[in-house]
Amino acid sequence: MLKGKHIILGITGSIAAYKSAVLCRLLVGAGAEVKVVMTPLAKQFITPLTMATLSKNPILVDFFNPENGEWNSHVKLGLWADCYLIAPATANTLAKMATGVADNLLLTTYLSARCPVAVAPAMDLDMYAHTATQRNLERLREDGVHIIAPAAGELASGLVGNGRMAEPQDIVAAVAELLAEKKKPTLTGKHFLVTAGATIEPIDPVRYISNHSSGKMGYAVAEELAERGAQVTLISGRTALTTPKGVERVDVLSAEEMYQACVERFEQTDGAVMCAAVADYTPQSVASEKIKKGEGDMAIALKRTRDIAAELGQRKGNRILVGFAMETQNEQANAEDKLRRKNFDFIVLNSLRVEGAGFRGDTNVVSLIDATGRKDLPLMSKREVAEHIVDKIEESL
Ligand code: PMT
Repeated sequence: MLKGKHIILGITGSIAAYKSAVLCRLLVGAGAEVKVVMTPLAKQFITPLTMATLSKNPILVDFFNPENGEWNSHVKLGLWADCYLIAPATANTLAKMATGVADNLLLTTYLSARCPVAVAPAMDLDMYAHTATQRNLERLREDGVHIIAPAAGELASGLVGNGRMAEPQDIVAAVAELLAEKKKPTLTGKHFLVTAGATIEPIDPVRYISNHSSGKMGYAVAEELAERGAQVTLISGRTALTTPKGVERVDVLSAEEMYQACVERFEQTDGAVMCAAVADYTPQSVASEKIKKGEGDMAIALKRTRDIAAELGQRKGNRILVGFAMETQNEQANAEDKLRRKNFDFIVLNSLRVEGAGFRGDTNVVSLIDATGRKDLPLMSKREVAEHIVDKIEESL
């Protein structure tokens, strides 16, 4: 359940921080990618070196690196995460979270996080039982924070009672359960084709023409469709990503291979989302041996590839067809032109001129454009963009 999930592990200044090392190991062992954020006081309880080694990522404590001024963006971190787990969570941090205080990176990340948040409180029994702490926990519960209840037992003070942080394996189980909460299977019985990633157009056995697409946006759409119960066939260009759960993946390299794979399958589907960055041109001929360099310059003759989306647009019938437009200028006009020419029901516009949008990153900034108008969405994770796209598909069905 945690395989491939992005988890921020927040550590605050409690003696229970020693258990965070085991917790981190268990999360990584379950296949999650973990980034650790610590409060300054947490460093007194467990070293950043230990946590960096176990999480395989640098530890984040300050807003910026004092040595080179590099900024640790809590906004990006919050958007990257599938879950923000704060364990141990002290009474002090819980109180600040409940009132929106943002005086360290752990707290600003909490305020920026759009993912589920879980806290595992750890403190002395009287602090835990205090009305103020209970009031703060209640407020956090109302705010949607998942509380992983502490256990009773011997505490660092020597007293015995409630306040001991839950055991790491129980915390991992709670996080897995939180992330497993199923979406309503609103698309059961529907079948969608999704294209994703970059195509590869060979020049010779060594070189090729391609682009910067990582596949993240298309894979997020495929995952979201599958989570809502749809059958999904993902036609994937080259990427380093793992196949989302429940998705059938067909690997292709060139635009022509992607064309064949899509056209063969489109008729059996209820629609397609065309997210791949497909080459518009391919070498006229592919050299069978490595092209040797000569003295002067060289030119490669290119020919047009077939437009997959336009072809599906012709065959669409009453299927739904969603396109993407990756633009660098005249965004609105170019997107509207593609919407009409390719017969899309709606098009997702992203512009390379907008920070946080486009290739490779975990975020995007898009506008959803159809014949009736345009809806602009703010910066969000690609997974959230996928949710908006699939919501609009559901409305159109
Ligand atoms: O993969 P990531 O790193 O996450 O980046 C995501 C993305 C930037 C690749 C994605 O958000 C995106 O914009 N995908 C479309 C990129 C693109 O090629 O856009 P375009 O404006 O050139 O093409 C318009 C539409 O026609 C697209 O739906 C494209 O898939 C489709 N097309 C284009 C050419 C072609 N020969 N066949 C096609 O089907």
